[in-house]
Amino acid sequence: MTAPLLSIQNLGVAYGSGRDRRFVLRGAGFDLAPGQVMAIVGESGSGKSTLVRAVAGLATPAEGEILFEGVALPPLGKRSKTMLHGIQMVFQDPGASLNPRQSIRTVLEEPLIVVGKLDSAARRRRVEELMDLVHLDHRLLDLRPSALSGGQKQRVAIARALSMEPRLLIADEALSALDFANQDKVSALLLELKDRLNLAMLFVSHDMRSVRRMADHVCVIESGQVVEQGPVAEVLYHPKSAYTQLLLAAALNPAAALADPRLSAALEAGGQISDEALAGVMDIIGANARMQEQSPS
Ligand SMILES: Nc1ncnc2c1ncn2[C@@H]1O[C@H](COP(=O)(O)OP(=O)(O)O)[C@@H](O)[C@H]1O
Ligand SMILES: [Mg+2]
Repeated sequence: MTAPLLSIQNLGVAYGSGRDRRFVLRGAGFDLAPGQVMAIVGESGSGKSTLVRAVAGLATPAEGEILFEGVALPPLGKRSKTMLHGIQMVFQDPGASLNPRQSIRTVLEEPLIVVGKLDSAARRRRVEELMDLVHLDHRLLDLRPSALSGGQKQRVAIARALSMEPRLLIADEALSALDFANQDKVSALLLELKDRLNLAMLFVSHDMRSVRRMADHVCVIESGQVVEQGPVAEVLYHPKSAYTQLLLAAALNPAAALADPRLSAALEAGGQISDEALAGVMDIIGANARMQEQSPS
């Protein structure tokens, strides 16, 4: 077996201090091989972002260890360049992660200037190469983010992440803000990049449709605990796990899941749930979760 690229061991993250200190993630663990995609799924607030933020160095573990390329990851400020470049992140809102005053060229060139290895001609070539990698026309380079569509902006964010030649890309709900057609296109792009660059991914998503398409492995988190994990074929398709999936569907949003006739039909048919039924139920849950996130609280 290939040595894992990422190994998460008994990871715990707590927020707050004193009496308000509270673990929002506990006992999380899995290995991820180079070039493999691990989907992190679970309801809103279950701890998915906390897990990937700990990997990215944006949340500090209270317990456990994260090994990257066999080396324990220290807090962000103490990470080596190899670690910092090796792990890149793409976020949900492509607009918010791009500086509105910068041209796309500057967005992509800036990290290369910071690294300082390339002269300006080489940087120019590299920026164009990055645009090619994410299938964007070079003519977009002189525009500002506001002139781009959501899908194009997310491609720029992906290109910027790729500029550091990462071995691990973290996509935290990176497709959630896109419309259906762009979700499909950007997930196809991510799969292509995975193969071309042997890029491993932590793919955080509410949407089982894209999880099925993207993931090799799935890690299901509920209230800060990993309740199930394994190859996508086992967790999402294997009959043994169908019961867990039904529980998961119901636990994520009991009202919506149980009110869905496809779920009750599947339950009556003996607990085996078809792909279509599962996808349908998960889509409803995803839509609900997105609505919850958007509503002011
Ligand atoms: N910086 C923070 N301070 C305190 N609590 C937080 C912070 N970030 C997240 N939380 C809490 O931790 C829990 C997990 O959040 P998060 O990892 O963002 O979940 P998810 O990504 O699955 O929606 C939630 O209860 C959330 O309110
Ligand atoms: Mg989140």
